[in-house]
Amino acid sequence: MRKLPGILLVDDDATSAFLTQRLLHKLAVADQVVAAPNGTEGLRVLQHLLAPPAPAHAAPWLVLLDLHMPVLDGFGFLEACRRLPAAQRQRMAMVVLTTSLHGADLERLQGLPISGLVPKPLTEAKVRAILRGNLPVPALPGPDPAAGVFQLLYHSRATQPLAEAEVYELLSQSRQANAAAQITGVLVYRDEWFVQLLEGPEAAVRATYARIRQDPRHTEVVTLAEAPARPRCFVPWRMALGRNTTPNVARLFAAVLSSPAGDEEGGARIEALLQAACGALEDEADG
Ligand SMILES: Cc1cc2nc3c(=O)[nH]c(=O)nc-3n(C[C@H](O)[C@H](O)[C@H](O)COP(=O)(O)O)c2cc1C
Repeated sequence: MRKLPGILLVDDDATSAFLTQRLLHKLAVADQVVAAPNGTEGLRVLQHLLAPPAPAHAAPWLVLLDLHMPVLDGFGFLEACRRLPAAQRQRMAMVVLTTSLHGADLERLQGLPISGLVPKPLTEAKVRAILRGNLPVPALPGPDPAAGVFQLLYHSRATQPLAEAEVYELLSQSRQANAAAQITGVLVYRDEWFVQLLEGPEAAVRATYARIRQDPRHTEVVTLAEAPARPRCFVPWRMALGRNTTPNVARLFAAVLSSPAGDEEGGARIEALLQAACGALEDEADG
């Protein structure tokens, strides 16, 4: 498992916080683990810890957040985080620890910058899932999964080879913005090539894609396929990372590489590419 610079645990339940901290220390997954008993304290700690500039491509701090707390609860904490300077915001990945979640809680989480929900108590398997970065966000109300979405598939070439930590950093930034924009999808990085499927409301997908195209971390961005009103493939994923050794991802690469952009086969080609991209989800189902 990769090691994080730090984990901040914000939880008012002393027993649960003690057990979580003990587990995190045992697993040695972070250089430091800091605890705060409520959102106000958590913010104070974060602002202090994240103020100095980070080394380039440092992994983000992980924030494990309880929702119901005195003084400032988890929702207030997330709202306040939205107003932090972008440089600080981008250095955090937020995971909400839940006990029982009510519809009203799920409603309030909508649009807040979280990477996922994890039921308490935290276990080694759950910590591994968090660190692998492919955390499903179950039952978060959003767009109707059956409603059609706009899908867009592109490939691009990395400007410089990316280390695994840099790919995770990119994903962590992307997931927070995607959650707010109701965008899901999959990103695959292999041999300095990216292939990414974005899906969501058309305007949001196009705006995100316009930002992505400007990103200096890659170049030669080529749109491979786009299609409106298709079923969403990646319902719980704010952006899955396709592991490049798995069969469906290999199939996706083969389909992409054998299908030059700009040809005129239209519908059939788009269908084949999008199906291959959605197939990558099956590889992620246990991730
Ligand atoms: C290969 C690749 C994939 C990306 N995927 C996303 C994504 O899914 N969502 C997203 O918001 N940003 C994504 N980004 C990051 C954006 O390019 C951009 O850095 C980020 O959205 C912040 O934009 P801003 O600084 O203009 O706010 C990706 C970047 C690269 C290089």
